[in-house]
Amino acid sequence: MTKPHFYITTAISYVNGPPHLGHAYEAIGADVMARFKRLDGFDVYFLTGTDEHGQKVQKTAITKGKTPQEFSDEIASLFIQMCKDLDVTQDQFIRTTAEFHKAACQAIWKQMEEAGDIYLNKYAGWYSERDEAFYGEDELETRPDGKKVNKTTGTEVHWVEEESYFFKLSEYTQKLLDYYEAHPEFIEPAFRRNEVVSFVKQGLKDLSISRTSFDWGVKVPNAKDHIMYVWVDALTNYISAIGYPDDKDGNFKKYWPADVHLIGKDIVRFHTVYWPAFLMSAKLPIPKRVFGHGFLMTRGEKMSKSLGNVISPASLIERFGVEQARYALMREVTFGQDGDISYELLGNRINAELANNMGNLAQRTLSQIAKNCAGAVPQPGILEDVDHQLLDKAGQAMLIAVRAEFEKLQFSKALEEVVQVANAANLYIDAQAPWTLKKTNIERMNTVLYVLAEVIRNLGVILQPFTPKAANKILDQVAVAADARDFSFIGATHALQPGTALPAPQGVFPRYEHPAEEKTA
Ligand code: MSP
Repeated sequence: MTKPHFYITTAISYVNGPPHLGHAYEAIGADVMARFKRLDGFDVYFLTGTDEHGQKVQKTAITKGKTPQEFSDEIASLFIQMCKDLDVTQDQFIRTTAEFHKAACQAIWKQMEEAGDIYLNKYAGWYSERDEAFYGEDELETRPDGKKVNKTTGTEVHWVEEESYFFKLSEYTQKLLDYYEAHPEFIEPAFRRNEVVSFVKQGLKDLSISRTSFDWGVKVPNAKDHIMYVWVDALTNYISAIGYPDDKDGNFKKYWPADVHLIGKDIVRFHTVYWPAFLMSAKLPIPKRVFGHGFLMTRGEKMSKSLGNVISPASLIERFGVEQARYALMREVTFGQDGDISYELLGNRINAELANNMGNLAQRTLSQIAKNCAGAVPQPGILEDVDHQLLDKAGQAMLIAVRAEFEKLQFSKALEEVVQVANAANLYIDAQAPWTLKKTNIERMNTVLYVLAEVIRNLGVILQPFTPKAANKILDQVAVAADARDFSFIGATHALQPGTALPAPQGVFPRYEHPAEEKTA
């Protein structure tokens, strides 16, 4: 049976500086989704990478005394390492300086040109190097220090006047509005969609898509002084990575259009206005969904070096461990909204849910089985209603509820469902008190411990996208075969076999000890 396909991408990161927590957050979100879909029976392609061209990278490289390529190589390697450190399972890490990518940019350019959508003119207007974006006067304000900045992003703009190729974006105003209308799921969350629709409704202006004042970019075909606007280059990564235009391996045919472009809220416009317009022009299918996640903040403020409130991906891993860091980031912030994080908040979350709730449940159950059931899965007696209720809650019902949240990329709510099951199991163990049954009713004790081991197995399976190593350690402890860990094994049909020998239990989720300077809420 062929599996359904699922293609997920992150934004590709600029290489003007090392990775920060925003990058890690997005990579983890996409990885959690990719892992979930794999476990749920999909043939997944997961893409991430770096966006290496543009004036900003060229300038930064020069200030560091490096060529743009040397500088890009250096920073790209830090992003690759970050993915490795976070246990991110991308199928490809694309770099826009790769030759195949440049060829793909030229191919899409030619398709847009053949469609009659590209013409040569002169650009005169405001440009933000930080955002790599052109802005209209209405989007700008002048600061008291005389600097002209974008009202929303706060980044400085400079006047640019040069010969430029233009894309006839104005001709796509109605086509895009029709597309949004026909595909309401294309832009999510819904409030972002409303923002985009109102922006497009004002009418779109043609877009300058080439530059001549610097040369760190992809050359425009047959126009030697022009390099492509970095967003034409960057957006094309989503198709160049999977083989557009030659499609030698058939991956483009297989995976395009993408199922989700996962990006931050600041770049929704590029992905939901420019990108679909370019694709319409090149007569290529449009991605199914663009999901704009929120920004991570500390104490309500943007993380910034000058405010001294930067939490780095490395510091999180060092403090909590990668598994716990992944869990806490996905749990603490509602995906799609901005979210406040701090070491205290994340640490509290880890202790409450991983250490005290799930870790404790596994530890209590497995140590009693080790002691009282000769270290093997106990033989249950006749199940009572309470047993059935808990098993049902931890079986298909949990998977269905979690899957529904994943469909909406609501990772925190998905985890809420899992936490509820672990809560119910902890209440059950307290109410059933197998440590007392040990003295009064061994058969009932065996039943209770069996039910709990089965709940732990299901929890281990469902936790894999978030805490892959720890979840697999849990599954090792209930002796689940390596090929019996995907979601088709959740529920009663694949329940643990009584009598199966179990290894000695080990804690999987240690408590986080808050350092003295962290006040717990
Ligand atoms: N290179 C462009 C994207 C091109 S995609 C075809 C870019 N790069 S970036 O390095 O600035 O940002 C990469 C991703 O990280 C974006 O999705 C961005 O929204 C996200 N984040 C940057 N800062 C963030 C936070 N503080 N919090 C969460 N995500 C943030 O934009």
